[in-house]
Amino acid sequence: MKMKKIKILLFVMTLGLVFSLTGCSNDGIDYLVLVNKKNKLPDDWEEKVELETVKNIWDEDIKVEKEALSQFKKLRSALLKEGVDIELESVYRSVKEQQELWDEWSKDPEKGIEYVKKYVAVPGYSEHHTGLAIDVCIKKDGKIINNNDEMIAERKIFSKVHEKLADYGFILRYLEGKDDITGYSYEPWHLRYIKDKEIAKEIMSKNITFEEYKEKNK
Ligand code: DAL
Ligand code: ZN
Repeated sequence: MKMKKIKILLFVMTLGLVFSLTGCSNDGIDYLVLVNKKNKLPDDWEEKVELETVKNIWDEDIKVEKEALSQFKKLRSALLKEGVDIELESVYRSVKEQQELWDEWSKDPEKGIEYVKKYVAVPGYSEHHTGLAIDVCIKKDGKIINNNDEMIAERKIFSKVHEKLADYGFILRYLEGKDDITGYSYEPWHLRYIKDKEIAKEIMSKNITFEEYKEKNK
């Protein structure tokens, strides 16, 4: 090997060593991150995640993790071909925005604190901080359905949505009857991008929670 090549090789190896020792890398985010009532958003998340700004169903600017958005667009197009229209409603929420949501819902006399605890995460512990959790609403016969109870009642529509999730790297996060594991009530609208389609297929076909998957694959 020529001297110049050896020098280049040594330089690359040294660089690799420095990166691994300092923990610096450009690995990006962990798409399999678990954020729930017991697991907070990782401290370095905000500096690593790449968010893209788009309009939601209400024409408001919202942010979505880049790759999750691109896969969501594909999922939405595939569903449109089957006559199902899902639209973006709420995706990335900062800790401050989650606090505002918590305060707003807590003050709503029709909801009350117990209802809020079933559906809204404590600020700092919401998957929405990751930019990977997408709350959709549906458009049916020209009408927007975004109310929790009305969406839960749309079983046929949501089963079509859930059938396709894994093909695009998404899972359903808050399953029916698994409140004791996830900590939240059934949310057919809360989709979570995990990137790995094989893992998503395993989770969706076995009808297990992300918590159960993570526990088995520690
Ligand atoms: N709706 C989910 C639990 C959240 O607020 O993060
Ligand atoms: Zn959600």
